[in-house]
Amino acid sequence: MANADSYVTIHMAASLDGFIARKDGRVDWMETSDEFVGGETMDPEFVEAFLKTIDCYVMGSRTYETALRFEAQGLGWSYGDKPTFVLTSRELPRTRDTVRFHSGDLAQFVNGHLRPTFRSIWFVGGGMVSAECLRLGLADEVRYSILPILIGDGIPFFEKLDQDVALHLAEVKAYQSGMVGLRYEVRGDRGELMNSDPEILINSGSRIS
Ligand SMILES: NC(=O)c1ccc[n+]([C@@H]2O[C@H](COP(=O)([O-])OP(=O)(O)OC[C@H]3O[C@@H](n4cnc5c(N)ncnc54)[C@H](OP(=O)(O)O)[C@@H]3O)[C@@H](O)[C@H]2O)c1
Repeated sequence: MANADSYVTIHMAASLDGFIARKDGRVDWMETSDEFVGGETMDPEFVEAFLKTIDCYVMGSRTYETALRFEAQGLGWSYGDKPTFVLTSRELPRTRDTVRFHSGDLAQFVNGHLRPTFRSIWFVGGGMVSAECLRLGLADEVRYSILPILIGDGIPFFEKLDQDVALHLAEVKAYQSGMVGLRYEVRGDRGELMNSDPEILINSGSRIS
């Protein structure tokens, strides 16, 4: 049975024109140099405490490959020691014990496996996986950090959706760095599979390794 307290968040940072990476996957534009006088600062202690409230991460394979490249460049691993589920149909390198690969039905995976096990579940990209999560009605919340830059073209925050998704604006914060943090709650019912029994997952042929 799904955990009624579980909460699925989609979070990404994007340019003002709605791109999460350049067409070739580069995110160099994220280093902006704006200053918004009167904006809030990011208190490192608050950030650290907040990250502790996240119980697991979910990401697409291309986002994982970007994370591996960052790590190889000495830029660290952004997901701490939290379980990190990578959606892929391929065999990818596994550089740490916390990483698990999954392929198969995403709704059954989230509702039958993640929701009963974890409370705060964060989808951290990319555009393809975020759109799939919304299309299937799996997300409770969308956190959108807008950076003060336009990049003209790139990978969109959400791949095309086939229907409208009504949102409720729950929080707005403007930071000294010029970034604006928006938090929206997804209105309406979660996906129809919310009450899936974990046995459905076992019988669905989904792979968790
Ligand atoms: N700005 C930000 O905050 C931010 C955040 C995250 C990522 N990014 C950037 O976004 C780019 C990647 O985004 P993207 O939209 O191209 O790709 P993505 O969503 O990261 O990954 C898509 C891939 O995940 C796999 N996949 C998706 N759904 C699946 C499912 N249900 N089951 C199994 N596998 C599934 C497929 O790959 P397989 O071929 O492996 O099966 C698919 O091609 C990167 O450049 C990254 O740096 C930016």
